[in-house]
Amino acid sequence: MAPTMRSFFLPTGYGRPSTYELGDLPKPTISTPDNVLIKVHAASLNPIDMRYAEGTMKLMFPSQQFPSKIGYDASGVIEEVGDEARGKGWKVGDEVFVRLPHEHRGSLSEYALTTSYYVARKPSNISHVEAASLPLVSMTAYQAFGRIEGGREGLKGKSVMVTAGMGGAGSIGIQLAKVFGAHVTTTMSKSKMARAKEIFPGTVDRYIDYKSEDITTVIKPRSLDFIFDTAGGNVSSLFPLLKEKHKMVSIAAMPNGGGMRSQFPDTPWYISSGLDLYAWWRTSGPAGKNRVEYEYHWLKPNGEDLAAIGKLVEGGKVKPVVGEVHRFDQDGCRKAAEVVMGRGSSNGGKVVIKVVD
Ligand SMILES: NC(=O)c1ccc[n+]([C@@H]2O[C@H](COP(=O)([O-])OP(=O)(O)OC[C@H]3O[C@@H](n4cnc5c(N)ncnc54)[C@H](OP(=O)(O)O)[C@@H]3O)[C@@H](O)[C@H]2O)c1
Repeated sequence: MAPTMRSFFLPTGYGRPSTYELGDLPKPTISTPDNVLIKVHAASLNPIDMRYAEGTMKLMFPSQQFPSKIGYDASGVIEEVGDEARGKGWKVGDEVFVRLPHEHRGSLSEYALTTSYYVARKPSNISHVEAASLPLVSMTAYQAFGRIEGGREGLKGKSVMVTAGMGGAGSIGIQLAKVFGAHVTTTMSKSKMARAKEIFPGTVDRYIDYKSEDITTVIKPRSLDFIFDTAGGNVSSLFPLLKEKHKMVSIAAMPNGGGMRSQFPDTPWYISSGLDLYAWWRTSGPAGKNRVEYEYHWLKPNGEDLAAIGKLVEGGKVKPVVGEVHRFDQDGCRKAAEVVMGRGSSNGGKVVIKVVD
């Protein structure tokens, strides 16, 4: 009988977390020379996992088969390595973290298979639980800042706002903005501010409680050099806060059709056209009227950017923010999925599943 592993998956179709199961599925095996097989020690969930699992994105995956595994982010130890990956320096026993590509999705499992392109060495100063919280959100933030004129180094001395500064992406975004020398403003619920100040003292120059203060009036018009939006909603209301010709990069507003197709090539044309129209109406059109620039950013997972994050973590410049840790059993995984499907961890940061105790 083929070897199996424990995995958390959608058994017969999309649905709510109460329908997901933890059970036995085939253990993945090395099938190309560049594969690495990772024994997963911890995995984290992201809002996109839940959008996928509840079926919001089902039109983008017309030929999806079930059971279907859940999870993109993992930290663990290489258990097997293909010849080509070995030639690139990877070996059995290496501690790695990874944002799996869509075709290898399934980090809430005992094992995850991927290609060496996506993996990076786990920072030695943090646990697997902490490392599993990082890949998707940290690379997204890192890449979004790379889209500022002059690259990340162009942030030095600039006035940057990161919305939702205690969310998964925002909590890394505020730290990166500070690493690259920016003056950092962020929005978050008041209930999360004390923890934020304790975890990253001195990182944020200005906190705004978005529930009791109206950011569009408390921030001076035309005073920001860059906005990294991780909250979504009516992002065009923030355009007047940007200096002319300066940029907002959002990862949380509605993407445009071209971007969606670049990520999910099976996106139907009518969805793609509808998204383009919506983007023109809600974001790119208003950006033009406000004489500012606007881009939606899609994460491009890769081991090189992840390794750069790893160095910043090892250098003590960026800290992982774990909001809660759940057990790798059916109740624990379902609970984690419910939290992420709702408003995220009430502690801020990421929701992690500890696969190996
Ligand atoms: N494009 C991409 O490649 C990409 C990559 C990563 C994430 N994303 C998207 O980015 C968004 C954030 O992801 P995440 O992982 O950071 O989610 P998360 O960990 O669930 O955090 C979301 C945060 O948003 C806060 N929030 C909600 N409404 C807000 C508002 N109006 N103003 C300020 N803060 C607000 C929530 O905290 P409060 O309790 O303070 O409300 C929460 O901390 C999601 O939509 C996700 O799908 C996209």
